[in-house]
Amino acid sequence: MIKVTLVGTGTVSKHLLRVFSKTDGIHVVQMISSRGDALSKALQTTLRNDNIAQVTEQPDLYIIAVSDDAIAAVSKQFTNSKKLIVHTSGSVSMAVLPREIRSGIFYPLQTFSKGREVDFKTIPICIEADNAEDLELLRTLAESISEAIYEVSSDQRKSLHLAAVFVNNFTNHLFQIGNEICQENDLSFDILKPLIAETIEKISSLTPTDAQTGPAKRNDSKTIERQLGELKNKTHKEVYRVLTKSIKENFNKP
Ligand SMILES: NC(=O)c1ccc[n+]([C@@H]2O[C@H](COP(=O)([O-])OP(=O)(O)OC[C@H]3O[C@@H](n4cnc5c(N)ncnc54)[C@H](OP(=O)(O)O)[C@@H]3O)[C@@H](O)[C@H]2O)c1
Repeated sequence: MIKVTLVGTGTVSKHLLRVFSKTDGIHVVQMISSRGDALSKALQTTLRNDNIAQVTEQPDLYIIAVSDDAIAAVSKQFTNSKKLIVHTSGSVSMAVLPREIRSGIFYPLQTFSKGREVDFKTIPICIEADNAEDLELLRTLAESISEAIYEVSSDQRKSLHLAAVFVNNFTNHLFQIGNEICQENDLSFDILKPLIAETIEKISSLTPTDAQTGPAKRNDSKTIERQLGELKNKTHKEVYRVLTKSIKENFNKP
């Protein structure tokens, strides 16, 4: 049985609580707020959960799932702990955790939102630890909820997170711009959904380069100029220009 205390009561922490609570071999000892005066007096979770036992029980590890900028400060409260302390961020180095502690990373590479359940079995979990024993503990924990475990260094994880910003955050923002253009022209965004679905679907069998289509790839300059003229929002124009340039460079057509 692996005993876990979750630190922070935000989105990732709640998703972890949900999946750990229904997994054999994992016991959530406690979920505590990162903003308590001191951890000894930390707030009990406001979430009702049968798997959260009395606070007196000691965890095998603490998972700090707080905002990236707060990880260093929150983890300082654990300086005297003999337990493994990990954080869940994609872009924060393991080195921000205090030197004195057994530190590690438990980064689930997925986008988590409030009120939307995810299937942890398919979520890649990136792990890292100071020593082999702690890495094994993290591997056992990760394997009990997911089938995709990767041991990656802090530098590799930062690169993965950077790539994730492009494929997830930026892509979603482009959906947002598309939605705005539809709304401005009295069109339903639903009409674009099969196109979005195929864009995602074909990436499982084609490379992104092979999957690329559109005026920038074809170098259809008249279409590009006309579409730039149609855009009213200055920032959207800029986004269109930069992405067009990037696609052209990829196909050697500067
Ligand atoms: N959301 C995702 O899709 C996702 C995916 C993978 C990894 N992550 C990583 O997981 C971590 C948590 O992300 P999240 O999306 O769960 O964030 P979130 O929902 O915004 O929750 C962040 C939590 O951080 C704590 N916090 C915020 N500011 C603080 C401060 N100044 N001092 C102390 N604690 C503070 C709060 O904890 P209390 O509730 O205790 O006050 C808050 O609940 C981040 O490192 C993030 O990079 C997120």
